Amino acid sequence: TFILGIEGTAWNLSAAIVTETEIIAEVTETYKPQVGGIHPREAAQHHAKYAASVIKRLLAEAKEKGVEPSDLDGIAFSQGPGLGPCLRTVATAARMLSLSLGIPLIGVNHCIAHIEIGIWRTPAKDPVVLYVSGANSQVISYMEGRYRVFGETLDIGLGNALDKFARRAGLPHPGGPKIEACAKNAKQYIHLPYVIKGMDLSFSGLSTASSEALKKGSLEDVCYSYQETAFAMVVEVAERALAHTGKKEVLLAGGVGANTRLREMLNEMCEARGAKFYVPEKRFMGDNGTMIAYTGLLMYKSGNTLTLGDSRVNPSFRTDDVNVTWIKEEET
Ligand code: ATP
Ligand code: FE2
Repeated sequence: TFILGIEGTAWNLSAAIVTETEIIAEVTETYKPQVGGIHPREAAQHHAKYAASVIKRLLAEAKEKGVEPSDLDGIAFSQGPGLGPCLRTVATAARMLSLSLGIPLIGVNHCIAHIEIGIWRTPAKDPVVLYVSGANSQVISYMEGRYRVFGETLDIGLGNALDKFARRAGLPHPGGPKIEACAKNAKQYIHLPYVIKGMDLSFSGLSTASSEALKKGSLEDVCYSYQETAFAMVVEVAERALAHTGKKEVLLAGGVGANTRLREMLNEMCEARGAKFYVPEKRFMGDNGTMIAYTGLLMYKSGNTLTLGDSRVNPSFRTDDVNVTWIKEEET
């Protein structure tokens, strides 16, 4: 089976072709805002500008490996969640391809794609997933036909929270990696608000308090303290999800998962609980076309395709809205 998948929920336009076992090709064009954060309309214009050339290059690379457009079985695209204008641009490209090749469309939930690529590229089978990215922060695990959300942010995603704080501290976008670098030279921990409500998280208060703390503490100390506090919060919720579900694996997903300190803290927690900790290669953690193509492949093989009429995008598409047709109960 050959599936072409297109990702473009936010800053990254990326398309890939995969089979059950192989990544045939992936081509990416990244939108980099001139100033500040992501402007949805500018990002969508970026995607519109590069969509044709990305697909053309992808098909050319696939051809070199002996894969022709006529070999493709389906066109997958990220249907949501994400920025409306970006989603619509990518969906339009996907519809055109689907129509011209006469093959079905597959509407992929972006969050679930972050999970499935991790399960594909690591030994994880049935993990508790900590998915921390720009717009999303969720602790998820599969149960009875759905990816259930055990806990999530009540306001903004951890990545956006880090980016916002970084911007106020004068660091360039994206802030996550810069904060990580600054934190390495810290001398002391500064107390910051630790906010968990039930199994849910909140980062906006922490972000504001961190900006305030800059008036007294050094940038290094505040970056360090921000990371220690926010990461301890997400690790606590992941640990409680492990305890609830009785599962024995944790999978890290999403762009913030690139952070070494977060990995270290999760690894320690897993060791203490006798659970396995898995992280996919870095190129599969941030947004990428391969994760959409691969999840599309799983969906396609379980008959989960879309008619044109049902292919409208959904900017607030939820992880637990998806009927997980591709996992059979005996596997879990
Ligand atoms: P989604 O649509 O899934 O919410 P996204 O489109 O924002 O995600 P991702 O690539 O999953 O994209 O995540 C990007 C985020 O990851 C940014 O907020 C960035 O600051 C953060 N990030 C990247 N590297 C690091 C790092 N080393 N430490 C902390 N955060 C990081
Ligand atoms: Fe993402």
